[in-house]
Amino acid sequence: MGHFDYRDGELHAESVPLSRIAEHYGTPCYVYSRAALTEAWRAFDGAFAGRDHLVCYAVKANSSLAVLNLLARLGSGFDIVSGGELARVLAAGGDPRKVVFSGVGKSGEEMRQALAAGILCFNVESADELERLDRVAAAAGKSAAVSLRVNPDVDPRTHPYIATGLKENKFGIAWQDAPGLYRRARELKHVTVAGIGCHIGSQLTDLAPFTAALDRVLELADQLRSDGIALSHVDIGGGLGIRYRDEAPPAFQDYARALMGRLGKRSLKLMLEPGRALAGNAGLLLTRVEYLKHGAEKNFAVVDAAMNDLLRPALYDAWHDVLPVAAGGSGKTYDVVGPVCESGDFLARDRKLDVREGSLLAILSAGAYGMSMSSNYNPRPRAAEVMVDGGATHLIRERESVAELMARESLLP
Ligand code: LLP
Repeated sequence: MGHFDYRDGELHAESVPLSRIAEHYGTPCYVYSRAALTEAWRAFDGAFAGRDHLVCYAVKANSSLAVLNLLARLGSGFDIVSGGELARVLAAGGDPRKVVFSGVGKSGEEMRQALAAGILCFNVESADELERLDRVAAAAGKSAAVSLRVNPDVDPRTHPYIATGLKENKFGIAWQDAPGLYRRARELKHVTVAGIGCHIGSQLTDLAPFTAALDRVLELADQLRSDGIALSHVDIGGGLGIRYRDEAPPAFQDYARALMGRLGKRSLKLMLEPGRALAGNAGLLLTRVEYLKHGAEKNFAVVDAAMNDLLRPALYDAWHDVLPVAAGGSGKTYDVVGPVCESGDFLARDRKLDVREGSLLAILSAGAYGMSMSSNYNPRPRAAEVMVDGGATHLIRERESVAELMARESLLP
């Protein structure tokens, strides 16, 4: 990782000791490294140098304004899936002309918003969506650029909840329906055919499913071209995995080389929608031990972060490394659990930790799908977020207050 390391026996984010962040901003708290985000984006983008391409960061991975703003300043495009994400990108200074809009359920209102903002492209996922987009664009007096997201029926070999490119998944347009839908798109007056794409899943640690999917998509693009439908871009989606534990995902360079090799001399611009690969290892969740509890069978470290702060372990049985902020001895084996009233409320299980009441723990690899999937379950205000930049810390999101949680509710008359 490099940006979260021990110095003099204490875990730091860049050059800031995490205990200082906990004292100053409280816990639970998400801590990001500006250098880590910047380096990840530059390395990813740089791997595709020499080929016309656009990196559209998948906003869902982490949609905090400061994160989006940082990426916008680096020149990133954005992959959005809702009007809310579009509003965030615009508020963060993102360029709408570098925005692609994905998702199976875009509402008419969201389409209008995106057309008004002047986004680059709609990644269309069904025949009905294509027809609706044409009607909405007609009413707005605009033409919508479209790319059909096809379902290449490739097994991404990942957790079933985050596999999206199999034919039983709700995503994408069935392979055999795509040519007909392109012909229909060409007839429609208010859509312009721009590209083709796919997204087969997330946390992929092999190159093979990516190249298999791209090959299939290119086969279709070539066929369309010979039918007189020339496309200008191909979108491979996101999905490149990161190391949480001992995974060995492909290096950005190898991923890029494999994709660019498949594209060959075709004059298609390559669009990419990475989320996790950019943000995942650029953030951690800082939490404090409230109690140590020694049960009949297990030891529990009850911490002040919970499944509402980081849902991944509960939802996908995901493994996140847990490090004590103060380097210690080997300690006992604990389940690290939160205060929420569910047995699924665990952040980590069976970890050897040298901890006591008040110890600080860092849950690593929490920069992607951490804060963005957090909730207010058990009326728990959402965590604060801090961006570290060298020796400086910036509070990029204040901790919510309980009053804010109740602000939109009313009692019966
Ligand atoms: N593009 C599309 C159309 C997507 O649906 C996704 C993720 C991405 C790009 C970005 O994928 P990434 O590069 O981050 O793998 N909550 C889950 C992950 C859900 C991913 C959903 N789609 C998790 O915490 O593992």
